Amino acid sequence: MSIPSRPRPSNAVTFRSGIGPRIEPIQVAPPKRGQVSVQIRATGVCHSDLHIVNGDWPADKPLVLGHEAAGVVTATGPEVDGVAVGDHVVLSWFAPCGNCLNCAAGRAWLCTGTKALENTLPDGSTAYADAKDGPLWPYLGLGTFTHTVVVPESAVIPVPRELPFEVGALLGCSITTGVGAVVNTAKVPVGSSAVVIGCGGVGLSIVMGLRLIGANPIIAVDLSDEKLAKAAQLGATVTLQPDQTDVPSYLQHHYGGVDFAFEAIGRVPTIESLPAMLAGGGTAVLVGMAAAGVRASFDPFELADQGKSILGCNYGSSVAKIEIPKLANLYLAGLLPLDQLIGQVRPLGEAAAALDDLSRGIGLRSILIPS
Ligand code: APR
Ligand code: ZN
Repeated sequence: MSIPSRPRPSNAVTFRSGIGPRIEPIQVAPPKRGQVSVQIRATGVCHSDLHIVNGDWPADKPLVLGHEAAGVVTATGPEVDGVAVGDHVVLSWFAPCGNCLNCAAGRAWLCTGTKALENTLPDGSTAYADAKDGPLWPYLGLGTFTHTVVVPESAVIPVPRELPFEVGALLGCSITTGVGAVVNTAKVPVGSSAVVIGCGGVGLSIVMGLRLIGANPIIAVDLSDEKLAKAAQLGATVTLQPDQTDVPSYLQHHYGGVDFAFEAIGRVPTIESLPAMLAGGGTAVLVGMAAAGVRASFDPFELADQGKSILGCNYGSSVAKIEIPKLANLYLAGLLPLDQLIGQVRPLGEAAAALDDLSRGIGLRSILIPS
């Protein structure tokens, strides 16, 4: 155990109803029982941060943004025994409670006891305060767009020291979600055909997962030529621009439909087009998170008649404690080129510009470095 005794001044990227993202000074309390302080060395800019900033997901409290990060443990509270000061770690945004029935069943991504989705620490508190001593809440229980976070031990996953922090950051969300969608949610068999709609950080990770397990063909679809070029480099065998090609017709014409169709945008029209891309018996996987409250519709006769399925996928159906070290080791063994996902590496102060680039589909995954 190693506990600094008083709150530390820092800076963070915050969002409060309609204001932000902006940098402001914050105070970070020392870790309490079961909590760990981690110095953030790299943090990714994910569409789930953008969902907050653009109002897709209403934020009911002032937040420290960011939920995809890696760093070094700097202090531990009482009763922390799984990590120690100096450990290199990836943070998991879905810190499981460890006690609910889903945790007991090994489905940590469906934990019903987690407070992460309420943007608090497990005890309902926050370690962050603003300059007026008002609470700032950790987005998805982490709030990583800052220098030092205080998080529950269950969110802290030790990884090998050789793992670059930028890769570790992306393992915290997009990679684990995308590769997990292939291997855990859909359990894609070798030789299956698959299409990936949307090739951002999550979609490109799906392409990598499909390549890893030996899917063929792998068809990547995106509006951006840059994303399609990267998808081809990572294993896509065909790339399609949806504004030039009618994707369902193309897939039916060339392959009789595909076995698996992954949607990694969270956009209703693309979600609704998935069944028409599938062969009979095929499976659509909803990986992209839609805006709160939207509805999509499907032809139930076609789904029943053709034996097509639709699967929901949260966090790649991953138990972070198991999947993140596994994926880190696949990268270190040269079997999963995760560093290829890294786009612009920029200082924390450029968070707003990075989110703006993300909203316009510019560039690969941005990484912020708190200096
Ligand atoms: N057709 C094809 N591609 C599109 C379309 C479209 N109509 N609209 C957007 N795209 C592409 C963008 O060009 C971009 O490459 O979808 C991709 C989305 O990627 P990102 O914005 O980088 O989002 P990412 O972080 O990968 O997350 C995707 O998964 O976890 C969820 O909340 C997350 O809903 C989000 C989704
Ligand atoms: Zn994310």
